[in-house]
Amino acid sequence: MLYVIERILLDKRDIDKLVLETARAIQYSYNDSSTLVIIYILKGARNFAQDLYNSISKKKQVLHYLPIRASSYNGKTKSSNNVMVDLMQAEDFIANNHILLVDDIFDTGVTMAKVVDVISEYKPASIKTCALIKRESKKERNIVLDFKGYSIEGDDFLVGYGLDYKDKLRELTYIATIKKEFHD
Ligand code: IMP
Ligand code: MG
Repeated sequence: MLYVIERILLDKRDIDKLVLETARAIQYSYNDSSTLVIIYILKGARNFAQDLYNSISKKKQVLHYLPIRASSYNGKTKSSNNVMVDLMQAEDFIANNHILLVDDIFDTGVTMAKVVDVISEYKPASIKTCALIKRESKKERNIVLDFKGYSIEGDDFLVGYGLDYKDKLRELTYIATIKKEFHD
């Protein structure tokens, strides 16, 4: 089975605009004097977090900008509750700081919820969550996404701008849906 690009959902200009809008919403939501620690989830959120960081840091003091890892124990079921979190160096910069947690896409919210739980143990001053894309659904979630760039309906799988399919297609500058091609 092969996967091919089906449709471009967001091109580079769309993404730049969403990043700017999201950065602005984030800036407005904090006091002018408060400083931020941005923590982003590898590897998918790297592109978004980098652009967001560049934008936010022009107007606001960002103390640290740090990656963490979060992965399912068995990459098979996305909705599985088995998310393993590795805070890496971020562990030392959480206490008493305002944390902005950034991911690429928010689906069931299981990943964000687990990371928020783990970060909370290190006593931050606050935690807010941000994702470039939110997959809207009628599912009840036990976590609120504070900032989102864009909403999608349905289950189209997305790639590009950090988002991957089996570690491929991350490097695309745009975000696209993929479709399955069946071969004999
Ligand atoms: P959740 O835990 O169900 O909210 O899923 C969020 C995580 O699943 C994200 O960190 C992504 O890595 C991954 N993910 C969900 N949907 C997609 C997609 O369409 N493309 C690429 N990764 C996705
Ligand atoms: Mg991810």
